[in-house]
Amino acid sequence: MLAGILLHVLLVTAIQYEPVLPPSYPLAVRNPYLSTWIPGNLVANLPSSSPQFWTGTDLTWSVIGRVNGTAYSLLGVTDSVANVQAAEVLSAQYTSTHTTFTLQAGSATFILDFLSPVAPWDYVRQSLPFSYLTVTVSGAASQAVQIYSDIDDSWTGGQSSGTVVNLTKTGTTSLYLISLVNPLLYSESDDQALWGDVIYASRPSSTSVLSTQFGNATTVRSQFVADGSLTNSSDTEWSTGDVVAFAHDLGNVADNQSVTFAVGYVREAAINYLGEAYTGYYRSQYQDTPSAVAHFLDDYAAAAAEAEALDAAISSKATAVAGSNYSDIVELSVRQAYGAIDLTIPNDSLDTSNPLAFIKEISSDGNVNTIDIITPAFPIYYLLDPDWIKFLLDPVLKYLATGGWQQPYMIHDLGSNYPNATGHNDQQDEPMPIEESGNILILVYAYKVATGDSTWATEYTSILQKYADYLVNNTINMANQLSANDAAGPLPNQTGLAAKSAVGLKAFGELTGLTNYSDVGASFANLLYDGGLGTDPNKTHFTLEYPTYPTTWKIPYNHYPDVLFKFGLFPEASYNMSSAFLPTVRGQYGVPLQNNMDWAKSDWNIWTAATLDTRTRDEFVDDLWAFVTNGLNTWPFSDRYIASSEFGNEAGVEVLCKARPTVGGHLALLALSEGPRGLAVSSSSGSTKRRISSVGMSADSEEVIRIST
Ligand SMILES: *[C@@H]1O[C@H](CO)[C@@H](O)[C@H](O)[C@H]1NC(C)=O
Ligand SMILES: *[C@@H]1O[C@H](CO)[C@@H](O)[C@H](O)[C@H]1NC(C)=O
Ligand SMILES: *[C@@H]1O[C@H](CO)[C@@H](O)[C@H](O)[C@H]1NC(C)=O
Ligand SMILES: *[C@@H]1O[C@H](CO)[C@@H](O)[C@H](O)[C@H]1NC(C)=O
Ligand SMILES: *[C@@H]1O[C@H](CO)[C@@H](O)[C@H](O)[C@H]1NC(C)=O
Ligand SMILES: *[C@@H]1O[C@H](CO)[C@@H](O)[C@H](O)[C@H]1NC(C)=O
Ligand SMILES: *[C@@H]1O[C@H](CO)[C@@H](O)[C@H](O)[C@H]1NC(C)=O
Ligand SMILES: *[C@@H]1O[C@H](CO)[C@@H](O)[C@H](O)[C@H]1NC(C)=O
Ligand SMILES: *[C@@H]1O[C@H](CO)[C@@H](O)[C@H](O)[C@H]1NC(C)=O
Ligand SMILES: *[C@@H]1O[C@H](CO)[C@@H](O)[C@H](O)[C@H]1NC(C)=O
Ligand SMILES: *[C@@H]1O[C@H](CO)[C@@H](O)[C@H](O)[C@H]1NC(C)=O
Ligand SMILES: *[C@@H]1O[C@H](CO)[C@@H](O)[C@H](O)[C@H]1NC(C)=O
Repeated sequence: MLAGILLHVLLVTAIQYEPVLPPSYPLAVRNPYLSTWIPGNLVANLPSSSPQFWTGTDLTWSVIGRVNGTAYSLLGVTDSVANVQAAEVLSAQYTSTHTTFTLQAGSATFILDFLSPVAPWDYVRQSLPFSYLTVTVSGAASQAVQIYSDIDDSWTGGQSSGTVVNLTKTGTTSLYLISLVNPLLYSESDDQALWGDVIYASRPSSTSVLSTQFGNATTVRSQFVADGSLTNSSDTEWSTGDVVAFAHDLGNVADNQSVTFAVGYVREAAINYLGEAYTGYYRSQYQDTPSAVAHFLDDYAAAAAEAEALDAAISSKATAVAGSNYSDIVELSVRQAYGAIDLTIPNDSLDTSNPLAFIKEISSDGNVNTIDIITPAFPIYYLLDPDWIKFLLDPVLKYLATGGWQQPYMIHDLGSNYPNATGHNDQQDEPMPIEESGNILILVYAYKVATGDSTWATEYTSILQKYADYLVNNTINMANQLSANDAAGPLPNQTGLAAKSAVGLKAFGELTGLTNYSDVGASFANLLYDGGLGTDPNKTHFTLEYPTYPTTWKIPYNHYPDVLFKFGLFPEASYNMSSAFLPTVRGQYGVPLQNNMDWAKSDWNIWTAATLDTRTRDEFVDDLWAFVTNGLNTWPFSDRYIASSEFGNEAGVEVLCKARPTVGGHLALLALSEGPRGLAVSSSSGSTKRRISSVGMSADSEEVIRIST
């Protein structure tokens, strides 16, 4: 009986998920082609489960630990290997920059710590296309311990065309480069890059001996299991089923010991910007891949210390602003938000005076620098480093200045297929005239107000004024058109777009001092609310359409910038109205986008929440948290999901959108409360000094953390 009870207790020993079990964990998430995840529901079987590209394609990435001669699979050993037993997963944790798994392997404990730095104020650190995996062993005192890891050519995305491997040594760093025999510049297969090099690297720790092997996975893994080391041999050519592998022999472990691996994807010509090759910003300092990788490994301690400070600041500030549910959402969003961006400079000159950032509309269509993707995400840039608003918009505005775009309204994106940022001289974008014209004015103003720099906006005033004029003439009697939510289809006379236009015009007026535009913006807002054009006759809610659709509604997210910038275009009464109304149309997982849709947009919902009273705001946060934690989802954070079962679909289930950077909008509450650079602040001179506000400190009493490089 007692034995039975004990057995039962052992069997139900639950894995600890800190802070929660999310749909999917970021593992190595740095740019659109280095985006590796593991679904939450696979974590209980981590030793035999494969990580995945954001699309869901398996990426071979295994880790095996060996303690006193016994081998334990820790990650990704999907095919059984003789004499390897699965370790037991004890806990899984995520922060803004880390995902950490703890496993029991006999008497030893292994920690797999995946660190993807988020350091937008440090352009070299942020642009390095690599991510860290650190494996730490404890509880194995005076036993012999070895740690093994491998990857394969699934990371190249084009295995069928042939793979080449190059093992290079720089100093103590051993580096595998895996590439295609016939790379296709700027091309993709199922969203994976078909040009460039996959890299996997490691170097001996102070106490380990590093060995390497490239060959058949079963052979290489069995070699490690038998001997605890590899042969340093390499096959002459790639065969299906091969891996490139490292083994660290730590000897008889005295204390906690760690080894670190770097995984990544290098594209020297990273972006095709109007026919010119752009490369990662880091190439200004490290012109070849081996030196970039060696620097990345050298930078580990500094990057990890900075990540720890950022993690603490985000979690404590988010909790203080809107509670632990909000913090859980934000921490899951940070890596994903930056993980769709490449920060670049010209490949030929390597001139750093004008960095350009490119962002992929991941999963929805692959467009480049979509304005209505940058817009929902902008609260995270505003909070962490508003220069990124400029870096992301500058490529678009420079293109507009070429005259290649001739429509009277703002362009939707800079190219239909990442990484081809080639513009739309054919005038064939996905038109969203009011949406994008309003967005660009709001974003340029956000940059100015957050940085105090008005010179950049001034360069483009004449272009911006054209779009402001377009809004003046085309808003109230609005043609049939799409809004950002293209899945909801086109409509004329959209209340939300008219509100966006009002805010955009006010932003343009503030930007330029041309108060006549502010006046038009104010008159639109006045018409919509006071005049009742955009509400039902009894003023209980904003409508989806005007003038005569009193039973329609849509979440009024376009009012967020009115609140953030303290424009006061819409009166307090209108926000009270929404706070009272939205809870009445709440589905099981929150408020859908609009009356005739059952799905919600998480980014817009948190924008909206920021404009509401605390009680309603918290309902929005809790509903999104419920979606994140309900166990029904396995994708990288989906910003679109079924919120209500009223049309017969299962509520709480993700829809279409995966891994999109729009989750940066989840920081809307933090951006509102903490203000520009409210958490982390730029390096002043050089890259050795940066300021991060510590927990509990106000934004203007920052501590200077010195980080040696
Ligand atoms: C290590 O393995 C040896 C041989 O199998 C065994 O005698 C010894 O007890 C083991 N040590 C520990 C600490 O488990
Ligand atoms: C292997 O890669 C290194 C570093 O990029 C390079 O210098 C070397 O030429 C490459 N070797 C081969 C055979 O391609
Ligand atoms: C980018 O453009 C190149 C050259 O036109 C083309 O080969 C490539 O397929 C394009 N990439 C994508 C992702 O469409
Ligand atoms: C890899 O090695 C295993 C075991 O020796 C063998 O069964 C398998 O056929 C090999 N795979 C390839 C592709 O050679
Ligand atoms: C592999 O290389 C390591 C590091 O240089 C060395 O210590 C080890 O003896 C080598 N192993 C073999 C089998 O040659
Ligand atoms: C070793 O690691 C364990 C588990 O993380 C930790 O509890 C312990 O304090 C560490 N010991 C030392 C000496 O760092
Ligand atoms: C990028 O720059 C490197 C180094 O100058 C050069 O070898 C390479 O051809 C360039 N790539 C492109 C696509 O221009
Ligand atoms: C706006 O409308 C006015 C009056 O009809 C017209 O003069 C002006 O050219 C229009 N401006 C734009 C940008 O369409
Ligand atoms: C749009 O609203 C304007 C202003 O109320 C109105 O004149 C026009 O008829 C509406 N258009 C449609 C298609 O309903
Ligand atoms: C606003 O005033 C400026 C300067 O007088 C003028 O150029 C512009 O056309 C006006 N725009 C509107 C919408 O009134
Ligand atoms: C508007 O309010 C009045 C007075 O409370 C009420 O009689 C009427 O039914 C309401 N109209 C609608 C459409 O709800
Ligand atoms: C988090 O949200 C859930 C519902 O989604 C709610 O039950 C719970 O009380 C919230 N937790 C906190 C700490 O607010």
